[in-house]
Amino acid sequence: MNTVVTQPSATPVIQALRSLGYSAGTAIADLIDNSLDAKANKINLQFKYFGNDGAITIADNGYGMNDDTLQLAMNIGSKDPRTDRQPKELGRFGMGLKTASFSLGKRLSVLTKFNGDYAQRCWDLDHVTQCNEWQLFTEIPNEVRQFMGDIEGDSGTIICIDKLDRFMGSENVKTIQESSFFAKVRRIHHHLEFIFHSIIEHGKVQVILNGNELDPWDPFLVKHTSTLEGETQVLNINGNKIKVKYYVLPHASFLNEMEYKRAGGSRGWRDHQGFYIYRENRLLHYGDWLGMFQKDTSSQLARVRIDLPNTADEDWQVDIKKSAVIPPDKAKRRLETIAKFVRRVSRDVFYYRTQGTHTNQNFKGSLNTWELSGSDDGQQFVLNRNHPVLSEIQKRIDGESLKLLNLYLKFVQLGSPSNITDSPKMEEESIQIVTDAMKELVIQFASILIKLQVVQNKQQLIDALITQPAFDSLNRKTLKSIIEEANLNHE
Ligand SMILES: Nc1ncnc2c1ncn2[C@@H]1O[C@H](COP(=O)(O)OP(=O)(O)O)[C@@H](O)[C@H]1O
Ligand SMILES: [Mg+2]
Repeated sequence: MNTVVTQPSATPVIQALRSLGYSAGTAIADLIDNSLDAKANKINLQFKYFGNDGAITIADNGYGMNDDTLQLAMNIGSKDPRTDRQPKELGRFGMGLKTASFSLGKRLSVLTKFNGDYAQRCWDLDHVTQCNEWQLFTEIPNEVRQFMGDIEGDSGTIICIDKLDRFMGSENVKTIQESSFFAKVRRIHHHLEFIFHSIIEHGKVQVILNGNELDPWDPFLVKHTSTLEGETQVLNINGNKIKVKYYVLPHASFLNEMEYKRAGGSRGWRDHQGFYIYRENRLLHYGDWLGMFQKDTSSQLARVRIDLPNTADEDWQVDIKKSAVIPPDKAKRRLETIAKFVRRVSRDVFYYRTQGTHTNQNFKGSLNTWELSGSDDGQQFVLNRNHPVLSEIQKRIDGESLKLLNLYLKFVQLGSPSNITDSPKMEEESIQIVTDAMKELVIQFASILIKLQVVQNKQQLIDALITQPAFDSLNRKTLKSIIEEANLNHE
């Protein structure tokens, strides 16, 4: 079939690109993602107010770009979203640099240095609209270049956005007052402290905004001794390993005024409950139960951290602004169970039913008797060995009884209905190769059955063992050979 190449007209495309619905905070966060992807560990943001206009610069000490890479980077859609990203990479559609910048203003200038060589480009949407063509300037206009400064060291990038019509304007006023401008900048400062808290904490990245260093805001109060912290559960969802960990924040009476205020974040305690979804440690979405539950006052202490790898983008429908996700149905069902539990714990703490007994004790481990754990070969329910009641029993009994208890627990776990695979028992007649650990388990269990006189002879012993889900993978002949080798005595 014949085809003709049709170029989209520049002007309407620009309007569409400018209206993706970025907030100023999400736009800036998307630009910081680029600096982080370039392995920068120092990022310096400046918001300047000139009265009738303003300018935003973001300077980083990342690996910069050469002329060709920069040319490609300035393309609208410079990467195919389906190509695999490097692990840990924050980019997604090859759009962010342009779409985020244009949501703030009409001119984007990029100055970059790679191995000591500078490269520069500039998009001016006024010019693009005027000629209705995607004409990219190969030089940054002097009036902009003069306040962008230079790049220290061998590599790095400075981007500057000005003609800030969107950032400076509001519904009624064309250019906002200086005080409103800086109030907006302060809100962005807090937003970034939140979005990047985990990256700043883990990666030792320094982000400075108008001379003030960002102080990471930890929504989970992990350092507070009264925070209840669940075990990390790994969910294997459509081939991606998703980590989930819940936190129940301390009752208000355990926090001083400062801690209380800060933990309430920008929207207040009630509005900050729910799931916190991170992609490569960068917060994407937070503060709701993904439509599963209401935000009740009594569940306001519950916050659940979900960590996604960037390979889960499509499955979780990460949007272009990296501010929204839609979990796959399979994940929703799992998350709902976890949320139900953590909301209940929150209610108990909120009404002061639980925490009194755990004062000043970092209460690790959940009150769940079972926890879901993921491994390469799928998921398994494992017993929560840190359950407080179990810990108490273990403390109270002697060594011999402790051994018996642990063996029993191992069997309970292996025999959990959810862990039993329904593959038929291997009944072929050859003896299988068995690990030493498995042999040991068979022998331990068999010895107890004999000692307690549950079985009277070898035949009965093997009949008993073969019914155990824990030994599902072993056939009769193998069990027999293990027992004979161990020389267990029933008579
Ligand atoms: N600060 C930066 N330092 C180095 N390279 C950058 C920087 N910002 C953007 N780039 C380059 O520009 C490309 C396009 O960026 P962007 O439009 O945000 O898309 P994405 O981040 O999804 O790849 C990036 O893939 C990267 O190669
Ligand atoms: Mg990007």
